[in-house]
Amino acid sequence: MLDGKRILLIIGGGVAAYKALDLIRRLRDAGANVIVCMTPAAQQFVTPLSAASLSGNDVHVDLFSLTDEAKMGHIQLSRVADAVLVAPATADLLAKMAHGLANNLASTLLLATNKPVFVAPAMNVQMWLNPATRRNVATLREDGVTFIGPLDGPMACGEFGPGRMAEPSDIVTAVAKGLASSGVAQPLAGKHVLVTSGPTREPIDPVRYLSNHSSGKQGHAIAAAARSAGADVTLVSGPVAIPDPEGVRVVHVETAQQMLKEVQAALPADVFISTAAVADWAVAAPASSKTKKTRGAPPPVLKLVENPDILATISKLSFNRPTLVVGFAAETDDVIDHGREKLARKGCDLIVANDVSPAAGVMGGDANQVHIVSADGVESWPLQSKAAVARQLVQTCAKLLEGQRP
Ligand code: PMT
Repeated sequence: MLDGKRILLIIGGGVAAYKALDLIRRLRDAGANVIVCMTPAAQQFVTPLSAASLSGNDVHVDLFSLTDEAKMGHIQLSRVADAVLVAPATADLLAKMAHGLANNLASTLLLATNKPVFVAPAMNVQMWLNPATRRNVATLREDGVTFIGPLDGPMACGEFGPGRMAEPSDIVTAVAKGLASSGVAQPLAGKHVLVTSGPTREPIDPVRYLSNHSSGKQGHAIAAAARSAGADVTLVSGPVAIPDPEGVRVVHVETAQQMLKEVQAALPADVFISTAAVADWAVAAPASSKTKKTRGAPPPVLKLVENPDILATISKLSFNRPTLVVGFAAETDDVIDHGREKLARKGCDLIVANDVSPAAGVMGGDANQVHIVSADGVESWPLQSKAAVARQLVQTCAKLLEGQRP
């Protein structure tokens, strides 16, 4: 079931930690190589020696261990695994994960990983039902973390209800199933995905430019999600203040003309996703030195010329057209109708229409609510993080490439 898969098992500090020992055995029986990390609290319930004997590997417990760090740094430890499994996942660990805290080895690994994360919660009923835990669980689900359990039943503390850790055999099955259908299945392996992101800047003179509020968050998230799905990714990005996604070839540009040139140079591609907020106009004749304000003279008049439409150019290629061309539509009103109109006019296969009016907070914000417009109709997705939109869009592209309807 898990042949050859490396599972980083993080054991949290709860009574159910004793079941984690059985879990190690069952993961190994399923063919996995199990690397164990234990929180300080977990070591109050089971010993690192037991976990090392059962896993056949060193057990990692200390963020500041010189020997561990010399052998394999903690960032690398979180990356060599195919998946991270937290069992038992205590309320404290879930809270740390949801808030991005990294104050011990386990929470640091969880923050540093770029692999699928599975959690098997175990805690007292009231702790599980507490609104704070409910919020953390919702945040983690939104971030793409897969929950296995908890189960209803009698608890070690004498109470009855949800909070019991799922059975080890069920956890193994859920992880195997999750890996088969997640990034590890790598539905875009062998495909080249070309993404544009961010704004363009059109110079007025050497110190001034025309641009827009795009932060690059949505486009960069799409590039990262395509990479996680196994694609070879080229990201052509306008000027943004966010870091380049890991494992992605990034080409930095300023103007729409440069973006078009780099997009054309990156072809052939299987998928082109045009997320960039490309300026529709450029200044016809940018000044070569700073335009001076002259007392009494009227402000300069900017003559604009139309920029090339990168999306339409790529969509309408007769040679080297990507199999799937996805455009965005950034609208402040009649979002879906304008999306339909852009689908037809630009000749792409899908339009991701989103509301960019200031009240929606999409440009520069962390969340987005999109409508997927295609020849088949319109599918509206809920408001979710840009990372979640990116994952769902990448899965949709993978299905369309396979010839399936999403
Ligand atoms: O960067 P963020 O802060 O995360 O914000 C994300 C976003 C709002 C920028 C993104 O979700 C989005 O909507 N991107 C498209 C922005 C845009 O320029 O939309 P448009 O409706 O003006 O253009 C339609 C499509 O044509 C887009 O795919 C655009 O990339 C493309 N286009 C537009 C003009 C042009 N000259 N060339 C193009 O390729």
